[in-house]
Amino acid sequence: MLMIQSFIIDFLILLSLPFNGLDYSEAISLEMQLPVCIECHSDLVGRDMMHYPVEDACDNCHESTGASHPSADSLGFRLMDKIPELCYYCHEEKEEMDFTHQPVAGGDCLGCHDAHGSSEASLMRSPDPDLCLSCHNRDYRSDSSETLNIRRLVKGRMKAHSAIEGGGCMSCHQSHGSDSRALLVDRFPEADYLPALTENFELCFLCHDTDLLNAQETEWGTGFRNGKKNLHWLHMNGNKGRNCRMCHNIHGSPQSFLIEKRLDFGNWEMQMNFVPEEQGGSCLPGCHGKLSYQR
Ligand code: HEC
Ligand code: HEC
Ligand code: HEC
Ligand code: HEC
Ligand code: HEC
Ligand code: HEC
Ligand code: HEC
Ligand code: HEC
Repeated sequence: MLMIQSFIIDFLILLSLPFNGLDYSEAISLEMQLPVCIECHSDLVGRDMMHYPVEDACDNCHESTGASHPSADSLGFRLMDKIPELCYYCHEEKEEMDFTHQPVAGGDCLGCHDAHGSSEASLMRSPDPDLCLSCHNRDYRSDSSETLNIRRLVKGRMKAHSAIEGGGCMSCHQSHGSDSRALLVDRFPEADYLPALTENFELCFLCHDTDLLNAQETEWGTGFRNGKKNLHWLHMNGNKGRNCRMCHNIHGSPQSFLIEKRLDFGNWEMQMNFVPEEQGGSCLPGCHGKLSYQR
């Protein structure tokens, strides 16, 4: 279709110009270029969200090589600079953050953004969480770091964290960088044990009831209780509280309540043996014999 269209336009242009092909650098003034370009490149405009400079003029980013365009043996245009330098002509390079997302540090802006326009906000190539999962569908391993395959956790297991369905990955993560580890929007340390204070698990308590952690006895604060006795509190109080991630997998799990089946505990892989029941549940972890709770 484009080829036929371009042929017709080429033909019309040929009729009106004295030379073979179209020399944009000289023959046509800058203001006139955009409508001409759009004749053939209409798929790049008219999207729900347009990148402002694209609606302004194509040569905000592309420059003519001087060759005629389109033509079989030359591209006719090149980008005015490499990515990300081109983007920084108009956008500020963000101030230093403690943790920068690797594709941002590596200048792979087009891994997430479409340079022309998109149906998504912020020129995202696809909606959250698909955007994030387009890369996080594999393990990343290097000498200095390891990042697990998140798609496997949220798509391949029985239960994904409902926050993902509600607000996507960005309900907990920043896209470019963050002052919290793992690009988190708020504090959530990695240590297995730490003081059982709400501010240490700030991320979770953006959405969850703090009674879960603070109320020694409760009828509403959590379902993890024996009668009124709060078993979250039992496992997390004082200076040596357990981290949520010792029992829960925050992205997704093979069973209810985001409970993980086994967890790495130093060099030891500990089984949880959690069995949910109508009014409670039981577990038989490495830490103690089989115990059950009843609400
Ligand atoms: C007569 C039709 C036609 C017009 C007018 C036209 N183009 Fe193209 N352009 C094409 C075709 C055909 C291709 C090759 C297929 C493709 O990549 O879409 C192309 C490719 C391109 C490419 C990609 C080159 C590459 O690196 O692969 C750029 C950039 C481009 N055009 C920019 C422009 C700009 C800017 C204008 C206006 C100044 C313009 N075009 C006007 C038909 C046209
Ligand atoms: C903000 C900068 C910017 C502006 C303005 C811009 N482009 Fe692009 N364009 C790019 C970048 C960056 C690429 C390379 C995309 C890639 O590699 O994924 C590109 C690639 C292209 C391509 C190759 C095919 C494609 O879709 O990737 C065409 C054709 C094109 N541009 C045409 C145009 C036309 C026509 C205009 C004006 C209506 C325009 N561009 C305005 C940045 C821009
Ligand atoms: C010629 C100037 C110019 C260049 C080059 C440029 N931009 Fe932009 N960009 C703008 C302007 C103007 C806006 C709209 C004003 C704003 O929101 O700050 C914008 C907006 C954006 C937005 C926000 C859109 C929204 O809806 O919030 C993103 C994302 C973006 N640009 C990414 C990029 C990327 C990635 C590149 C490099 C490929 C780039 N820009 C290159 C001028 C430019
Ligand atoms: C991992 C995906 C990803 C990468 C890589 C990425 N961005 Fe973004 N960017 C986003 C998302 C998502 C948003 C909107 C939500 C937000 O602000 O976090 C955004 C917002 C923006 C905005 C508009 C809001 C603002 O912060 O001013 C600009 C401009 C922008 N990005 C430019 C860039 C540039 C330039 C690069 C390359 C250095 C880049 N982005 C790389 C995902 C990404
Ligand atoms: C273009 C590919 C790409 C996209 C899209 C992408 N990421 Fe990443 N992300 C990476 C790479 C590469 C790493 C570094 C992996 C490594 O080397 O261990 C990374 C690392 C991370 C990390 C770990 C950071 C740390 O310090 O441990 C988080 C969290 C993350 N990404 C979240 C997201 C979220 C949320 C989105 C969607 C907004 C997203 N990513 C989109 C490529 C991508
Ligand atoms: C409810 C909050 C939450 C949501 C929603 C969420 N994450 Fe995370 N993510 C975390 C936390 C917390 C960590 C730190 C891991 C830990 O402490 O075990 C993390 C870690 C990561 C890491 C680093 C993993 C590693 O091996 O180092 C990546 C990558 C990541 N998330 C991507 C995503 C993607 C992609 C999505 C959307 C599909 C997403 N996250 C949704 C909370 C969340
Ligand atoms: C000792 C293991 C363990 C630890 C540590 C733990 N949880 Fe739980 N959590 C559970 C169990 C078991 C359930 C299932 C309760 C049930 O049967 O309804 C649960 C359920 C939940 C629920 C579902 C609603 C509710 O309260 O029943 C949320 C939300 C929750 N936990 C958040 C957290 C947060 C946040 C942390 C860290 C501050 C945490 N958990 C630490 C074992 C744990
Ligand atoms: C952006 C909001 C948000 C954040 C942040 C968040 N959650 Fe959730 N979480 C939800 C929603 C929504 C549900 C589903 C409704 C419910 O059970 O409360 C849920 C459910 C849960 C469940 C129960 C799953 C089930 O099967 O019933 C657990 C466990 C849980 N979250 C743990 C955590 C932990 C641990 C953190 C911190 C790392 C956290 N959440 C951060 C929104 C969030």
